[in-house]
Amino acid sequence: MSKRKTFDSLSYSMVDLFENDDHYETEVYHEGTKITRRNYDALARRVSTITRDPELIVMMSRSWKTYAGFPKIKLPEGELGDVRLQDALMRRRSQLSSFSGESISAEQLSAVLRNTYGPTLTTDFPNRPHDFMRFRASPSAGGLYPLEIYPLVFNVEGCEPGLYHYCVVDHSLELLRSGPIRDEFLGRNLTPYRELAATCSVLFAITAVLPRTVSKYLFRGYRFLSYDVGAVLQSFYLTGTALGLGTCAIGGFFDNEVGEFIQVDNVDEHVMMLFSIGQSTPDPRRPVNG
Ligand SMILES: Cc1cc2nc3c(=O)[nH]c(=O)nc-3n(C[C@H](O)[C@H](O)[C@H](O)COP(=O)(O)O)c2cc1C
Repeated sequence: MSKRKTFDSLSYSMVDLFENDDHYETEVYHEGTKITRRNYDALARRVSTITRDPELIVMMSRSWKTYAGFPKIKLPEGELGDVRLQDALMRRRSQLSSFSGESISAEQLSAVLRNTYGPTLTTDFPNRPHDFMRFRASPSAGGLYPLEIYPLVFNVEGCEPGLYHYCVVDHSLELLRSGPIRDEFLGRNLTPYRELAATCSVLFAITAVLPRTVSKYLFRGYRFLSYDVGAVLQSFYLTGTALGLGTCAIGGFFDNEVGEFIQVDNVDEHVMMLFSIGQSTPDPRRPVNG
């Protein structure tokens, strides 16, 4: 296979897929994001310049977006209850094919957001009485928190349907667009996982604001963004499970079109993943291990 083909123009035969293909794009990505003995010094210099500069540290700690001027909805506290971590881990499953279609509550939506990417510990900086470091419920490389969460609220009691942005600093939702958001989403065929989108209560679009991480970690940054997304996905899964809800990550979607739908620029800020939650249906998989 020609190495000049762009990924968009690929048409794999089955033989290409399983035997001859060299997975060129993946290898380029992986090679380009490796720390090696040759590039380590440049990366370490970059990181140390940043960590020694108090102005930069404070600037980089302000890692959240707000949509000024849009209606703000304060979320309830958001309690998970006292489910044991081990039980949540053992019970966690991806909802296969569809949810029941029944609503979830605003309290449940709030609990998922707070315990997935919400604010936790706040610390101060020496001699900076007005600046704070805000840690979140999921870990993030360098504490840079590059991710933003846009809940597409389809069917939540106590929260009108619409496209929202999760405002982390005050645990609120900013209403970017109200109306029949599910119909609009389905009407554009943005994912092949149509049944999940048609029956879930909330579809979260998880974006990454690339410069927040890449400006510090350079070529290594894209990997770190992806790892951050993985951590957030697990938090989504576990919080949803702890609340007795069905959950499913959705990696299959048309990237740029979902980005346009939620109105991010698809350059500095990209959609990395979708995540669906709703009332569950029985899992058709048949356990053989009890
Ligand atoms: C990164 C990632 C992407 C995924 N994308 C999809 C998807 O697009 N559609 C889907 O139905 N399930 C998706 N899943 C769910 C997996 O299919 C599921 O985790 C896997 O089958 C194992 O089942 P379990 O989660 O119930 O343990 C995704 C999971 C992950 C972690």
